[in-house]
Amino acid sequence: QTTTTYDIELIPGDGIGPEVLDVALPLFQDVADDYGFEFDFTRRDWGTEYYLEHGEMMPEDGLAELADADSIFLGAVGHPEVPDHVTLHGLLLPIRKGFDQYVCKRPNVLFEGIESPLKGYGAGDIDFVVYRENTEGEYADIGGREHRGLGHETAVQSALFTRQGTERIVRAAFQAAAEREGHLTSVTKSNAQAHSMVFWDDIVEEVSEEYPGVTVERLLVDAASMDLIRRPHEFDVLVASNLFGDVLTDIGAQITGSMGLAPSGNIHPGEEYPSMFEPVHGSAPDIVGEGVANPLASVLSWSMLLEDVGEEAAADALWSAVIGQISDQSAPRTPDLGGDAGTEAVVEDLRSRL
Ligand code: NAI
Ligand code: MG
Repeated sequence: QTTTTYDIELIPGDGIGPEVLDVALPLFQDVADDYGFEFDFTRRDWGTEYYLEHGEMMPEDGLAELADADSIFLGAVGHPEVPDHVTLHGLLLPIRKGFDQYVCKRPNVLFEGIESPLKGYGAGDIDFVVYRENTEGEYADIGGREHRGLGHETAVQSALFTRQGTERIVRAAFQAAAEREGHLTSVTKSNAQAHSMVFWDDIVEEVSEEYPGVTVERLLVDAASMDLIRRPHEFDVLVASNLFGDVLTDIGAQITGSMGLAPSGNIHPGEEYPSMFEPVHGSAPDIVGEGVANPLASVLSWSMLLEDVGEEAAADALWSAVIGQISDQSAPRTPDLGGDAGTEAVVEDLRSRL
């Protein structure tokens, strides 16, 4: 009998990305040992250091090098000395788009033992997942700047909404809602953006006919931002464009305790390309090098990765270890969760809980 081996590409990236991944890898290795599979890791030193040396965030054939992987794990990208649009457009966005990872799935759960900044909210009261469109919309690379430096300098940036692109994210969200509580919230701004967002609304209407068991609520993004704070317990699945989904998930991370807890998957649901998993947070330059970054967002993202490749029991084990740890008031916690422990102590504690 042969052991299953997963070919995993590691892109630790910048700031706390590599810091957390280096400490957490032994934990991931433990899970593989416990559940009888193996990882074959390839580590890429891409990111801002690479950029400062080579003038690009990753090699030109970078995507081709990743293409055969079973999955990709990314730490974080971003550096105070390099503009964020360079780092984002040089690494993260090309992978999301190039591998057609059109579902950005971001669960937001208020775990037992975590205090929400929202008064009166306790364990399990907040439990929703955002399906963010991840390949087009407002992040399309369409536009330009003219008349630079002149008084009439102009910038144009267009958003791209295709029928195929919109339909598939909306359908994925309906499917998720059908498998959860049966409630879908579509977030748009169709009062102001009467072309793209009304088109989005039309597609939601069409796809809803395939899912008679799912109730559909429509919210404008400003109202949704308010309601995620006012009544987060009423949400189940949210579906939104690239930009709106990005903003809403930062609210989701905050109301469920910390950026240090929020996981995400950039998922290509087909077989053609690998998916990529990453914590929602960035490179956190304000705490880099201190050894206090919360590794739990990465650990939960790794759990999503395992689920995606089909190792559900291992994925559950990792997710449960995190839940067990944060519900235990005597367990180590990083400062963002009100504790004084370091990254390493948190990972060691998780290893003992597996
Ligand atoms: P950030 O997520 O890096 O940090 C925001 C705040 O949350 C900071 O106070 C930070 O210390 C804290 N934080 C984040 N992750 C944490 C963790 N694991 N444990 C404890 N505290 C944590 O966002 P920010 O400061 O806006 O951006 C910093 C850099 O990261 C920028 O260059 C930005 O472009 C980049 N970025 C990259 C992302 C990615 O790789 N997907 C996502 C967001 C930002
Ligand atoms: Mg974001």
